[in-house]
Amino acid sequence: MLEIPKLGFGTYGRTGPDGIAALECALATGYRHLDTAQSYHTESEVGTALRNSGLPREAVWVTTKIDMANYGPGLLIPSLQASIDRMELVPDLALIHWPAPNGNLALAVYLDQIAEAKSQGLTREIGVSNFPIALLTEAVGRLGKGQVLTNQFELNPLFRNETLARFCQAQGILVTCYQPIAKGRIAGNAVAAAIAARHGASAEQVALAWELAKGYVAIPTSGRAERIVANHAALHLTLTADDIAQLDALDQSPRSINPAWGPAWDI
Ligand SMILES: NC(=O)c1ccc[n+]([C@@H]2O[C@H](COP(=O)([O-])OP(=O)(O)OC[C@H]3O[C@@H](n4cnc5c(N)ncnc54)[C@H](OP(=O)(O)O)[C@@H]3O)[C@@H](O)[C@H]2O)c1
Repeated sequence: MLEIPKLGFGTYGRTGPDGIAALECALATGYRHLDTAQSYHTESEVGTALRNSGLPREAVWVTTKIDMANYGPGLLIPSLQASIDRMELVPDLALIHWPAPNGNLALAVYLDQIAEAKSQGLTREIGVSNFPIALLTEAVGRLGKGQVLTNQFELNPLFRNETLARFCQAQGILVTCYQPIAKGRIAGNAVAAAIAARHGASAEQVALAWELAKGYVAIPTSGRAERIVANHAALHLTLTADDIAQLDALDQSPRSINPAWGPAWDI
């Protein structure tokens, strides 16, 4: 069975024919992990690109996420079945995309449904996204140790989210970084740019190499072939301990994704 590849390809915004072309480019480049979600409207693009690539289904890790409109009693499993129908494949991983808005639904209501979906074979693994420590602790208590494969949340050198990342790693829960290149803002950081220049690399590659060095999963996206290829080459960039220490000491930016209905964050 394929383990989750540490460098994946995000699919937010990769809709329609251009989206399929970007996904095909990612697969041809060597990405073997695609990150979609019900709310991105890219599930059918993921399935189409994977089939067009000619790669065997089992060569590529596919993650989808359950939209919060589908958390109510009896809704989650049919919604995941609809995702399977759109992708024409069973995902490797299904995530709870966000804790229920304003905590308006008990965790058990939707966690029990995603656990049931796994036992019915509608996904190989399950996990969560945007879960702070308190809710993650509750989720592990409900689902059992070893059941939550990953927590996907905002993390990059400009927003290291260290308290949550350390907690996940101590619990054996994989950290998946979204916005891993800070949507391109990393290039404006002088320290990251200087490290990049020393390695003959880009600041985006430095951010990705830093995440991979920490054992995190990173899922950058781009609609441009040259960036898709360049981001993937971060797999071949090895940072020094001093580079990593410098990135670990960068001033932190505010959280970028922070909806009013979101959970109480750790920082
Ligand atoms: N779980 C969640 O709640 C959640 C939230 C946000 C994102 N995600 C996932 O995480 C993935 C990545 O996050 P993201 O898309 O928000 O941010 P990101 O990957 O950090 O940044 C993507 C942006 O950076 C640009 N870019 C990509 N490579 C570049 C490069 N080498 N140089 C300069 N600019 C570059 C892209 O523009 P161009 O297309 O023009 O290259 C795009 O606008 C998403 O696609 C999605 O799968 C999950």
